[in-house]
Amino acid sequence: MTAASSLPGHPFITYQSGELYVEQVRLSELARTHGTPLFVYSKAAMLSALGAYQRGFAGRKAHICYAMKANSTLGVLQVFAQAGCGFDIVSGGELARVLAAGGDPAKVIFSGVGKTRAEMQQALQAGIGCFNVESTAELEVLNEVAESMGEKACVSLRVNPNVDPKTHPYISTGLKGNKFGVAHEQAVHIYLHAARLPGLKVVGIDCHIGSQITEMTPYLDAMDRVLDLVTQIEAAGVPIHHIDFGGGLGINYNGDTPPEADALWAQLLAKLDARGFGDRQLMIEPGRSLVGNAGVCLSEVLYLKPGEQKNFCIIDAAMNDLPRPAMYQAYHHITPVQPRIGTGDVFDVVGPICESGDWIGRDRSLNVQPGDVLAVLSAGAYCMSMSSNYNTRGRAAEILVDGDQVHLIRERESVFDTFQLEHLPV
Ligand code: LLP
Repeated sequence: MTAASSLPGHPFITYQSGELYVEQVRLSELARTHGTPLFVYSKAAMLSALGAYQRGFAGRKAHICYAMKANSTLGVLQVFAQAGCGFDIVSGGELARVLAAGGDPAKVIFSGVGKTRAEMQQALQAGIGCFNVESTAELEVLNEVAESMGEKACVSLRVNPNVDPKTHPYISTGLKGNKFGVAHEQAVHIYLHAARLPGLKVVGIDCHIGSQITEMTPYLDAMDRVLDLVTQIEAAGVPIHHIDFGGGLGINYNGDTPPEADALWAQLLAKLDARGFGDRQLMIEPGRSLVGNAGVCLSEVLYLKPGEQKNFCIIDAAMNDLPRPAMYQAYHHITPVQPRIGTGDVFDVVGPICESGDWIGRDRSLNVQPGDVLAVLSAGAYCMSMSSNYNTRGRAAEILVDGDQVHLIRERESVFDTFQLEHLPV
């Protein structure tokens, strides 16, 4: 292994003299000190991903609201809050996290199809920027809640542009059969209704068509559909102050080639300009593309188990830590932190959980022995935030690396932590 070769798509994760590093920190050392499974994030990688959006929007009126469902750990939120980001939230719990991390509530937008009255109250009290409303029924409840508090809630309607994002069906959200948003055909009618409700102030429009999108066309098509609607809604007498184009930009997991954020936005802004909307206040809600390739999950090889049809490499991380392969058949690259010389064998990399669905990688060529530490790449998004305690496994610890600095941003959850809210009936 030559000195300092970065992994494709991971400029801040490098092999240096045969050892894997995140920025200037050796991963074998972190695994030894903090144990495994262990999530490690690069602050520079997050800021670099954010930088691509900031470059794309240079000179424009644009707010970047990090979709924190991708990774809602306080230490990660603080990085984005300090970089000036707002947040796209989907629960009262996420709002509490934004506030705990020092985020500005005025830069928060609240998405999701099922906001409760209590969450609406909490968000109005905190003074969030905007509710992204997804149905007429929700509009009416929000109106009631705001009126009862003597407030006016700023709202944007999430419209469903009926565009195919060409991604996994579970993470495609902008098609007619999805539960999200209001139908394109009904949008003008619902805007007129919203504008008449005394507890609401209509401020924007939003759409989000899906996640892990690797092509530009679905974005360009969705933008056309949304701009058509803005024209119609404004012609009907309701001004639209901001346009929110959601998140969804994909990352490189396995040779995927999504556009860079600045290249994507160069195209989208050209369309906005051509259609005369270039000076509008813009918003976006990126999640995965800001954190996905900033994180790795370190895991120790427990056993090698040769089989008649398959060889298994059993590691100490499992589907409770890394749920994406089990849920979406997702690919995460897996690489040793201290590679051995030689080719090794082909393994299915699996966790200790009692389910055949508990796999992390299939048919991987690895030269490993028990005790070796593997890095599961692209683990910054939708891993820790979707983790669980299944099989009474405590959640992993998390580290934020900043240059040569190591910050423990989440301690390992103990087994006691996992049952401390439970009571024996007798
Ligand atoms: N805005 C809204 C309204 C969303 O529903 C989402 C993601 C985002 C923004 C951020 O999308 P992103 O930029 O991260 O693609 N657990 C799945 C992904 C679910 C995405 C849900 N919504 C996965 O692991 O692939």
